[in-house]
Amino acid sequence: MWGMIATWTMALEGVTLASQLLQENGEIGQAVEKAICAVEDFPFYKSVGYGGLPNEEMQVELDAGYMDGDTLDIGAVAGIHDFANPVSIAKKLSGEMLNNILVGAGAEKYAHKQGFERKNMLTDRAKIHYKNRLKEMEEEQLEMKPYRGHDTVGMVGIDTQGSMVSATSTSGLFMKKAGRVGDSPIAGSGFYADSEVGAATATGLGEDLMKGCISYEIVHLMNTGLSPQAACETAVNHLEKQLLKRKGSAGDLSVVAMNAQGEWGCATNIENFSFVVATSTQAPTVYLTNRVDGHCVHEKASEEWLKNYMTTRMAPLEEK
Ligand code: GLY
Repeated sequence: MWGMIATWTMALEGVTLASQLLQENGEIGQAVEKAICAVEDFPFYKSVGYGGLPNEEMQVELDAGYMDGDTLDIGAVAGIHDFANPVSIAKKLSGEMLNNILVGAGAEKYAHKQGFERKNMLTDRAKIHYKNRLKEMEEEQLEMKPYRGHDTVGMVGIDTQGSMVSATSTSGLFMKKAGRVGDSPIAGSGFYADSEVGAATATGLGEDLMKGCISYEIVHLMNTGLSPQAACETAVNHLEKQLLKRKGSAGDLSVVAMNAQGEWGCATNIENFSFVVATSTQAPTVYLTNRVDGHCVHEKASEEWLKNYMTTRMAPLEEK
């Protein structure tokens, strides 16, 4: 038995590549890394890796996290510039005895010494998005504010040996302040894995996801006997309720999880959240989910929806 679940439709190609590896008894760490690198490398996904949208100073600052569920080792980078695959750097850091989380210049020095590929991550398309957004804000006389919704790629999975991993990669909020760090490189918030129980990962507004340490919370709930689906729904609904009660608003909160039996779950507080599942008994499939009366109802995405998704992502973009 093996399985993977990942946030957002953009994970489909990567999960498809990685499933072949898992089918041939490959290791989950390699599979997840390969799948996330595929998302990082694709220039038309504007919230992860190459082509990711920049901060308010028009610099692409990337965050990534990785956790090995066998050893509980973690690795993460935050605010790193000009490296092609932050998830690979995070994975490498998870194997170090100390210094597992590195930020900014220190992370770049480490990545350089380890021979990771350098790359200018700011694409012409991302520059157009930035300039258009600046113009919009000037026209509407808005102050510089980051977009709230965000599409981090997060992935969890189990291999035929029973090893589990959770990992993330993101460019963070569009127009964020230089140095801003979200949930994605924070263990327990953006990602968590324990091969004896299960693994989870999150996407959405980092500032709010961190308030609930949501990935750890889901794994903890699975450990009390909840199914991945019930654990995801309980964690999202509870955090949203607390945020509404205490602050009057809640950002986007979306999560996916898998347990050590390969059962999966997903929950969200937004409309049409998409995610990808592949298991030893299920070909890679994109689902859309919506919350109805506190429970998330998952539907397979149609061919037409998938086609439209890619067409929209790759549509020509002009400067306004
Ligand atoms: N969830 C990604 C971020 O807030 O940066």
